[in-house]
Amino acid sequence: MVEPADVQKGLEDVIALESRICYIDGKGGRLIYDGYDIRDLAANSNFEEVAYLLWYGRLPTSTQLAELKQRLAGLRELPAPVLRLLTAMPRDALPMDVLRTVVSALAVYEPDETKPGEASIGGAQRLSAILPAILGTIHRLRNGLPALAPRPELSHASWLLYAIRGTDSNELETRALDVALILHADHELNASTFAARVTASTLSDLYSAVTSAIGTLKGPLHGGANERVMELLEEIGTPEKAEEVVRAKLARHERIMGFGHRVYKVEDPRATILREWSKRIGEAKGNLRYYDLLRAVEGVVHREKGLYPNVDLYSGSVYTLLGIPKDLFTPVFAASRVAGWTAHVLEEYQDLRLIRPTARYVGPVDLVYSPIGSRG
Ligand code: SDX
Repeated sequence: MVEPADVQKGLEDVIALESRICYIDGKGGRLIYDGYDIRDLAANSNFEEVAYLLWYGRLPTSTQLAELKQRLAGLRELPAPVLRLLTAMPRDALPMDVLRTVVSALAVYEPDETKPGEASIGGAQRLSAILPAILGTIHRLRNGLPALAPRPELSHASWLLYAIRGTDSNELETRALDVALILHADHELNASTFAARVTASTLSDLYSAVTSAIGTLKGPLHGGANERVMELLEEIGTPEKAEEVVRAKLARHERIMGFGHRVYKVEDPRATILREWSKRIGEAKGNLRYYDLLRAVEGVVHREKGLYPNVDLYSGSVYTLLGIPKDLFTPVFAASRVAGWTAHVLEEYQDLRLIRPTARYVGPVDLVYSPIGSRG
């Protein structure tokens, strides 16, 4: 029996499997999807093309991309029973709870997409296409507005913005969200993707794997940090107060959301790109308040703790300026990461190995069972 290696709490630095999907160079601060640098993809690609890359391992031809866009546009309709379920949800339910519940329920009405290893590309496309409709409908219903009919002529990013806001987005707004969706599409074995792979490794179905992933992303150490960042900015108020507020939090050993990362030991390349978009959108909207506050916070945290920003530091300011409410930030993260989650599930099916680590037992052994009457 091979002696297990030392316990790596949080599986830190443990190589659990091999994958062709995503490479993170934590020391160099590089992020690569199937060989392509995230900076090139953010500058030149779009969410649909990146989803194709993650699912198939190669960039599509123009015909393949056109076909995928058409297929995704045709998969945006919510089944009537699912719309009824959404309508029955409490108005004040957490959007991530509703999203997790509805994706799980969707499987009941789409049995063809829930056979392990078979129709998974179709299921991957269906989930990627329908998540914007689900989170948009959550927002419309809680505001007493009717669900919106799908707009197949819209790109994925403009459909997501329309589904939430009910208004058309201009080119700059659409591009800003498209870039954010590219940046969030995958990130190797982050907790929610690992949860999806563990689920798939038992030969459970794609919709169950994505339901596992959504439940995992809900945790504040993974999703939701960008919501807390926006709350921090409201607390700080002006750049001049950043030093005082941040230093007081650090003195109380509080975490500053949007900073630090398990893998990146330098700046998260996604933060670099989102910082630029926070400024661009802020200039276009005539509102650089968030950007200026974030720059001030960055300076203090780096000087005091040597920490770098992660993807969550600037994303909230971009979403806020796009009119996306704070409690939909993590559902928007899910609407992008579903491409990565499903790509990893497909890969797990193709090279299946039940994921089952071991634990070092530290409890007692050989205790004698005592009858309950003699236990005091
Ligand atoms: C995402 O895994 C992924 O790839 C996730 C993600 C993805 O795309 O899927 O990148 C998305 O989850 C981004 C991270 C969003 N979360 C936050 O911004 C929350 C704040 N960040 C931290 O909680 C923390 O940095 C983690 C959880 C992100 C990483 O934590 P680690 O690797 O477990 O680091 P750690 O907790 O061991 O901290 C090491 C040291 C500690 O100092 P000491 O106690 O040893 O003196 O760094 C300090 C920590 O206190 N530290 C922070 C800090 N993050 C780490 N101190 C203040 N503020 C922080 N944010």
